[in-house]
Amino acid sequence: MTQHDRLLIIDFGSQVTQLIARRLRELNVYCEIHPFNRVDDAFLKDFAPKAVIFSGGPASVFAEGAPMPPESVFDLGVPILGICYGQQVMMHCLGGKVERGHGTAEFGRAFVTHTGAPLDLLDGWFDPETHGGREQVWMSHGDHVSAIAPGFAVYGTSPNAPFAITADPVRHFYAVQFHPEVHHTPRGAQLYANFVRLAGFTGDWTMGAYRDEAVRAIRAQVGDRQVICGLSGGVDSSVAAVLIHEAIGDQLTCVFVDHGLLRLGEADQVVSMFRDHYNIPLIHADESDLFLGKLDGVSDPETKRKIIGGLFIDVFQKYADQIDGAEFLAQGTLYPDVIESVSFSGGPSVTIKSHHNVGGLPEKMGLKLVEPLRELFKDEVRALGRELGLPDSFIGRHPFPGPGLAIRCPGEITREKLDILRKADAVYIDQIRKHGLYDEIWQAFAAILPMRTVGVMGDGRTYDFALALRAVTSVDGMTADYYPFTHDFLGETATRIINEVQGVNRVFYDCTSKPPGTIELE
Ligand code: XMP
Repeated sequence: MTQHDRLLIIDFGSQVTQLIARRLRELNVYCEIHPFNRVDDAFLKDFAPKAVIFSGGPASVFAEGAPMPPESVFDLGVPILGICYGQQVMMHCLGGKVERGHGTAEFGRAFVTHTGAPLDLLDGWFDPETHGGREQVWMSHGDHVSAIAPGFAVYGTSPNAPFAITADPVRHFYAVQFHPEVHHTPRGAQLYANFVRLAGFTGDWTMGAYRDEAVRAIRAQVGDRQVICGLSGGVDSSVAAVLIHEAIGDQLTCVFVDHGLLRLGEADQVVSMFRDHYNIPLIHADESDLFLGKLDGVSDPETKRKIIGGLFIDVFQKYADQIDGAEFLAQGTLYPDVIESVSFSGGPSVTIKSHHNVGGLPEKMGLKLVEPLRELFKDEVRALGRELGLPDSFIGRHPFPGPGLAIRCPGEITREKLDILRKADAVYIDQIRKHGLYDEIWQAFAAILPMRTVGVMGDGRTYDFALALRAVTSVDGMTADYYPFTHDFLGETATRIINEVQGVNRVFYDCTSKPPGTIELE
């Protein structure tokens, strides 16, 4: 789809490769991540990158079949930046030397000092006035470079990495031992900014430009045919729907499956925003009786997820079948979902939870996919949503899982419990908003516990449900930390919930991080 200057990140399996892409996207540079074993001569020719970055990775260049880039990458005549394992690969390929760890492995914070020679990559670094002439970086390596390749010189050293920053300024090849993309290299973003500037990127990757291109691409793909879109009320499917509607108007019909497991007032909000405000044809499939009926008496978390996932597909298909001539299914797939990751373990990963999605649906229904967000990270989807005029309060909403309140109601699900949970969750979120904390928190919600406890209210005994409150900070939901509310906040919130929501007489706060916990309770 894109006509922009492109930067290629060759992935050697680092845990933080996606962070490199994010740093570049923040600089309005379009980049893609591709695993080293997919990048060959033909790929490079076709991709025509304006610059290349080699990511870090867990391998050793000494290992048999060690991951390597195609040699032709060095003949493209474009700047290359190698990071950590990427540095070792560059030296190994170009005639330098790499040595095994032997006491020089380095993990964690280190300080790099400048060797004195000027280098365009280092503009703004090593300012003696403001940084005492050295820079904090994050190291994470076993092997290390022991002799640099011909044409290279050393520009920065650390106590355990004599070749912390190396470069061949004539060919514009740069190689660093540390990770400039991580938070613990506080001024790493400056290195990326320097790198893309010297490579000639103009920062033309903006959401306004993306919107126009995406609209053109959707029109070209769909022509005069019909598209259906499953709307969940979440940010991704909403932004996809509004964008596609801008491109093809009434050729888009949205199907909103209401499984009866949504939050207070949520179904009405979605329907009124899309149908009334955006004028998008919308089918509100109220199937709560069906879902809650099938979930009756079920308490096993995986069984719940499977029931909801299966029913969702059946219901979606039933409504989609009623739309004449639908040939396309729109999905809010994001870039992190399409990046092929490099797996060195080779083994299958364990299923922690069966995530709810509509995968498999397009083949079953014979539909082609329209995925206009495939190139975007989550924060870019939010920027695009703002560009399309979606309200901030909607775009900034915390994530909400596909199976909805079912997984916030451990044990059996009843309408009574769901009702209590909805009210309590609304009070909790209201408290968070009132205290100005909503945007600091990645996700917050209440869960109703499968137990009743004894309490006393007025002069009477109560025997009501207990509630757990959860709030976490996170970047991508893969790891998370619990949010450190003040005791005052927690006390005030517990009091409000118990006073305002009948059926709750006790409130707990969940202080578990992920791992070992997960964000949702099931
Ligand atoms: P866990 O509980 O696995 O959740 O730590 C991580 C993030 O994923 C969300 N989540 C889901 N999202 N379908 C979704 O679309 C699902 O089945 C699902 N399960 C969990 C969860 O809310 C959190 O943001």
